[in-house]
Amino acid sequence: MKTALSALARRTAEPPISWLMATKLAHPKLISLAAGFTDNPSLPVRETRDSINDLLRSPVTGQATLQYGTTAGELKLREWTAAHLQKLDGISAPKIYSADRVLITHGSQQMLYMTTEALCDAGDIVIVEDPTYFVYLGIVQSHGLCARGVRMTADGLDLAHLEQVLESLKRRGELPRLKLLYLVTYYQNPTGITTSYAKKVAALKLLKKYERAAGHPIYLLEDAAYRELNFGNVAAVYDRRGGEQEVRRSQTAATVEKTALAARGFADRVIYAGTYSKPFATGLRVGFGILPEPVEALLDAALVSELTVVDGTGRPVTYPLIPLYDGRRIYMTSAVLFSRKLRHIKANPKVSVSLTDPVAIPVEPFARATIQGDARIVEDDLHAGWETLLPLWRAKEPVIDSFVKMRFGIPLFFERSIIEITPRRVLLWPGADAAEEPQVFELEEAGR
Ligand SMILES: Cc1ncc(COP(=O)(O)O)c(C=O)c1O
Repeated sequence: MKTALSALARRTAEPPISWLMATKLAHPKLISLAAGFTDNPSLPVRETRDSINDLLRSPVTGQATLQYGTTAGELKLREWTAAHLQKLDGISAPKIYSADRVLITHGSQQMLYMTTEALCDAGDIVIVEDPTYFVYLGIVQSHGLCARGVRMTADGLDLAHLEQVLESLKRRGELPRLKLLYLVTYYQNPTGITTSYAKKVAALKLLKKYERAAGHPIYLLEDAAYRELNFGNVAAVYDRRGGEQEVRRSQTAATVEKTALAARGFADRVIYAGTYSKPFATGLRVGFGILPEPVEALLDAALVSELTVVDGTGRPVTYPLIPLYDGRRIYMTSAVLFSRKLRHIKANPKVSVSLTDPVAIPVEPFARATIQGDARIVEDDLHAGWETLLPLWRAKEPVIDSFVKMRFGIPLFFERSIIEITPRRVLLWPGADAAEEPQVFELEEAGR
């Protein structure tokens, strides 16, 4: 008889983690470096008992504790998590470290599963460190994805090798299938290597460079599971002969190296997976994730937006156009036949792009957004300049290729200027109700 199992279940191999954990539990004296167990005597038994007693002491807090919560997780915990991460990174960026972007999960492993499922279809590609966390390789295998490995050096990924891998994917036309780079950035499992902040920024820059050819954003999934699992910020300093010279309090790599969230201008490409398992209690399995802003998803999905420009008499005029977004700027193209809006923009570059039509923007849940920015007309090569946008265009409207093939029949349609918009401020209505007050984001990094 045929199996009733799904393709995913059939692809899923016996996870090695189950055996590793069972072996460790059956042999308490075994120091297992593989299964991610933390040190038993350091587990906070008393603190956890006191907290649970506090919570269950009154019916009000007790019932709330034992009842279902919201999908994103307890607001206080999300606020606390966002503030804590901001403190660890030592920068002030309330927009990035905001509770709105935090999701509480059942261990950071759930975050790794959810992110990969949200971005990847079977056959897609992820880049990983070689070697990497074997549970992540299990996710890759069961979801039918391909992992490409990148060598590591003493401070993280070998960037030259990352570039080689990206180039080879580009040459083979496989970049549209590449969705993310997965890095375990602190005391990596299994090598113990901590990735320097400079490397994270350099990796993000490289990914961005290849996004145009990919036709969509390529994310950095930063797994920071071990970030706060260190030796209490005490570092031994050794002299040249190898003798211990002094032991002094200092910051460890975990607190010195910022997360990729801190990389100016790149936070919208970083998905962060964190956990309270390692620094607090592995058995409680509470993890969290930080997600990029939702406006990105709207822009990526939008088949139509409304571009509003100001005409010579100061009146706003609105045109429906496809927005193409490369993670930094919004691009639209306009045939020379319809050049009035181009004249208006040259006279006054202040424009706004509105995303309002749920039919033309198939994302769930739908939200409304208006992006205000400065536009520039690029028209040095009307005939072929706009073709650089074809990968982004094709990703949204595959039918464009058949139009391009017929371009000799409609020649003036394919003489096109590019309208390049640098976003300065975003107004977002998460419930899509424009009668509500919008969330407002000032994008100080947009021009970089
Ligand atoms: C690199 C890495 N990431 C994530 C996890 C998952 O931890 P948790 O789901 O308990 O947060 C582990 C556990 O060992 C790990 O080693």
